[in-house]
Amino acid sequence: MSTPPPRQLFAEETSAQVVTASFAGTPDPRLQRILTSLVQHLHAFVKDVELTEAEWSAAIGFLTRTGQACTGVRQEFILLSDVLGISMLVETINNQAGGGETESTVLGPFHLVESPPRAHGDTISLDGSGEPCLVTVIVTDGGGEPVPGAQIDVWQANSGGFYDVQQPGIQPESNLRGLFSADEGGAAWFRTIVPRYYPIPVDGPVGQLLHATSRHPNRPAHIHFLITAPGCRPLTTHIFVNGSPFIDSDAVFAVKDSLIRDFAPVNDAARAAAAGLPNPFRTVHFDAVLQRIAQS
Ligand code: BEZ
Ligand code: FE
Repeated sequence: MSTPPPRQLFAEETSAQVVTASFAGTPDPRLQRILTSLVQHLHAFVKDVELTEAEWSAAIGFLTRTGQACTGVRQEFILLSDVLGISMLVETINNQAGGGETESTVLGPFHLVESPPRAHGDTISLDGSGEPCLVTVIVTDGGGEPVPGAQIDVWQANSGGFYDVQQPGIQPESNLRGLFSADEGGAAWFRTIVPRYYPIPVDGPVGQLLHATSRHPNRPAHIHFLITAPGCRPLTTHIFVNGSPFIDSDAVFAVKDSLIRDFAPVNDAARAAAAGLPNPFRTVHFDAVLQRIAQS
């Protein structure tokens, strides 16, 4: 019987090898790969910055407070991932839009599972407050074919930069949310107001991190879309208002060039009347291209 090789002892030079060797018996190879790489990078990081014990302790305190800030309706760890660019990196790696499909971006914390179903032409602005806007959408697949029946879930902040769930009792419930079903031509249209830029929540540890690094917390103005259809990959994305403050410095790095749209001003009484909007108004069009997936 051959004798097993002697176990390496822990030293600064060997630290990563010693710890990664301890995962040798991990039954799940993917878990082993992730833990091995994580330990290698973490050990290299600690050595690189020569982390002090006080800094280690501060980091543990920060992560503890981040966990304590999480509730049923608040996910401070996801917010931390967002401001560190990890959410967008995972999103980008896993949703490569190579074939002309619309690019994706983060879902964010303000999506509700149940958006109220609405009919084409409905307004999603239940309090009518803000600059009126007509949104038209056409959903196609990568081959340019319309996707009838695609479910178009929409949500956005109001003209003050707040979502309905942040202002219960001030905004009507389900304000600026709607679920539309694309018609035979893949089209949908609705009335709304132009959203405003807004800050992500800053009253927790993530806010302290932004403050300590002199970073602003703002996201440029945008409308969220989650578009689903049988046989297509779900698309989670936004359209951003061209010219919005913070378009070049989104706190969560979610802006992609291809998602910036002109919200063009229109001054045309006949068009306004046809759309059921006061004149003047703004309008934006979104061509959403879904990726077909092979069906088994
Ligand atoms: C949002 O767009 O709703 C959002 C995304 C990431 C963090 C906070 C808010
Ligand atoms: Fe948002």
